[in-house]
Amino acid sequence: MKIFSSITQLRHYLDFYRRKGDTIGLVPTMGALHEGHGRLVNEAVKSCNLTVCSIFVNPTQFNNPDDLANYPKQIEADKKLLAAKGCDAVFLPTVDEMYPDEKLGLAINFGQLEQVLEGEFRPGHFSGVGVVVSKLLNIVQPDIAYFGQKDLQQLAIINRLVKDLSIQTKIVAVSTVRESSGLAMSSRNLRLSKEEKVIASELYQAMLELKKSILMGVATARAIFETKEKLNELEGLRLEYLEIVNAHTMDAITDLSASENVSICTAAYVGKVRIIDNLYIKQED
Ligand code: PAF
Repeated sequence: MKIFSSITQLRHYLDFYRRKGDTIGLVPTMGALHEGHGRLVNEAVKSCNLTVCSIFVNPTQFNNPDDLANYPKQIEADKKLLAAKGCDAVFLPTVDEMYPDEKLGLAINFGQLEQVLEGEFRPGHFSGVGVVVSKLLNIVQPDIAYFGQKDLQQLAIINRLVKDLSIQTKIVAVSTVRESSGLAMSSRNLRLSKEEKVIASELYQAMLELKKSILMGVATARAIFETKEKLNELEGLRLEYLEIVNAHTMDAITDLSASENVSICTAAYVGKVRIIDNLYIKQED
């Protein structure tokens, strides 16, 4: 497995395979890899001739300096996981390599899509994601790029980005991988204690119950209210939001027939760790 930190060298390496007609898959990550990322790499290896994984903790998408400082790093373990999965190349740039002119401050405005849910609690986050993903897609020019469904709003943002900027890369969404408790795998879980992990898994259980009530015909507003009440009673968990949304526009939904793609989206703090999750109620094939 090749390791690159230079954009020029990575491009040079990829040009050779592109000229051969090979298909290139990209798995963008911020490292501290787990089986959720593993699944993305599996999909890329299965469908592409060459798989590139990028590991870059992108400072411009962190609105909270503590979150950036505490973001887990385990680069040697990450390389091992990627090599075992059959990844061909890892792109590990420095901040200077990605942002040589710090003052540039490029921003992307995603309008209403970035005002709600995560956008409301993390101002500027999606602009940072949009810029870094544009750069990664531009550097690697992959045929396919793989993103986890766990970050559902991020997925909607990236789909909007490639459409609006006419980027040719196909975006593939890969379903969330969960621990046996139901807790969605996330790099931030490394910062949860054993007890906190148990509390965090309640969020998924609450979404399952909410989905069940709604499918049984309970009015959405009432079902959401009851779920929030239960979660607010949990010691150690501080709910930020719990909403039922159109999974493409992220607009809140009360009438399930309004969209073919409806999902519950939620975020909460467990101790000092912020976790997000979602669960589809309805999804197009
Ligand atoms: O989902 C992530 O890990 C990041 O937001 C991404 C897409 C790699 C951009 O930094």
